[in-house]
Amino acid sequence: MISGSESTIAATPISRRHVAPPRPGGNYVMQGLTSEKALDIYHLIFAPTHACNLRCKHCYLPDHDVEALPKEIAMRLVDEWSEIVLEERGPFRGIFHVKGGEPFVVPYLGDIMDRLVELQSMRLMLTTNGTFTNEKTLNKLQACHDGLSGHVTVIVSLDGASAKTHDALRGDGQFEVTTSFIRAIRARGIFTHLNCVLHGQNMHEIPAYVRLAMDLGADQINFLPLVPKGYGSTVRCLQVPHLQLHQQLQAVYDSGDECTRRLLAGSLSHIADRNKRGILAACECVAAYQGLFYITPEGSVFTCPNLLNTEHSIGNVKNLSLRELCDRLPILHRKLRADGSNDRHLCTGERTLYESIGDKRNLANLREMQSALTVDSPDTSTNRVATAYCVSRNF
Ligand SMILES: C[S@@+](CC[C@H](N)C(=O)[O-])C[C@H]1O[C@@H](n2cnc3c(N)ncnc32)[C@H](O)[C@@H]1O
Ligand code: SF4
Repeated sequence: MISGSESTIAATPISRRHVAPPRPGGNYVMQGLTSEKALDIYHLIFAPTHACNLRCKHCYLPDHDVEALPKEIAMRLVDEWSEIVLEERGPFRGIFHVKGGEPFVVPYLGDIMDRLVELQSMRLMLTTNGTFTNEKTLNKLQACHDGLSGHVTVIVSLDGASAKTHDALRGDGQFEVTTSFIRAIRARGIFTHLNCVLHGQNMHEIPAYVRLAMDLGADQINFLPLVPKGYGSTVRCLQVPHLQLHQQLQAVYDSGDECTRRLLAGSLSHIADRNKRGILAACECVAAYQGLFYITPEGSVFTCPNLLNTEHSIGNVKNLSLRELCDRLPILHRKLRADGSNDRHLCTGERTLYESIGDKRNLANLREMQSALTVDSPDTSTNRVATAYCVSRNF
């Protein structure tokens, strides 16, 4: 049984407007019904800058430009998103998620946190490399956690269960630093998810990673497949076929105890498991669903962090409000479905990446994965249900 807000989502009927605020923390699964083309919990992902204090070998970013979206626009985004969340989902059924680059190098991150505390309308998520271990940063996180009554989730990137594997991608000594950051935020009661990019040289550590996550007191693990783009294209040789990776994770999920399964909330195994029990997930890629935005340092707005071709941008926050951008989503959704009518269960971001570079091997791997995820549905009117594979379902 999955605890926290995720179990509430699973049982929630179709109309979710103005429901009681969810409990803070617990697990998070990006989810939405296919019939509604909208996320249950709205999720705006904001990359204010590509600047970063690390230079990870696998980083999907195209550069580490230090240019950041101006603070006044960032603050406007917070306010506009808050209005949309309150109107369409009610208090705390939306997330303001800061990534990057590295969020802790953004000069106005503290102002965003303060504004969220004033608004009392959204959950804060941060995805960080967990290298800012100073008291000032930890105290600021603690204050935000307290001010939002626990509606703060910090996602920390830990790319292996040992210094050998984590440091191989992130730099010497980083495992030590990042695990001490995780212990420090857990000691302060801050909800913590771990992101781990899996590849050929750390896959063998999956069971050890689950044990380490338990030891660290993490609330969720997001095992992510390596996507060979940006700097990450230089380590494409480490990529493992999608189905092979999934089968390895499935074995851990199947043999795991309740605690292991709770940690793996949001994994494909967990979502497929829920589908079999009749708790249907979106049976297609959720790109261009209402309630999902990814905003770059230039202000370009996309509807998934993995679908970043210029043709998939729906506009720019420098000259459009988030409400105006929401109105453009149905057009992009129709276009995406028309362009990939046979591929609606595949991750559109990965599919279009591989199509653009003529990577037939990865396209075949994606399709092999999708066939394996098509199962008999408990709902006889649907017959067969394909669990949609989504590289960004968790972050
Ligand atoms: C680009 S980072 C930005 C946030 C922060 N700097 C960090 O490292 O967590 C966001 C997440 O994407 C993951 N990531 C980076 N490159 C990736 C790749 N090539 N494939 C899959 N995930 C990747 C990172 O491990 C991290 O969890
Ligand atoms: S993955 Fe994160 S920490 Fe690593 S270089 Fe990219 S943005 Fe920086």
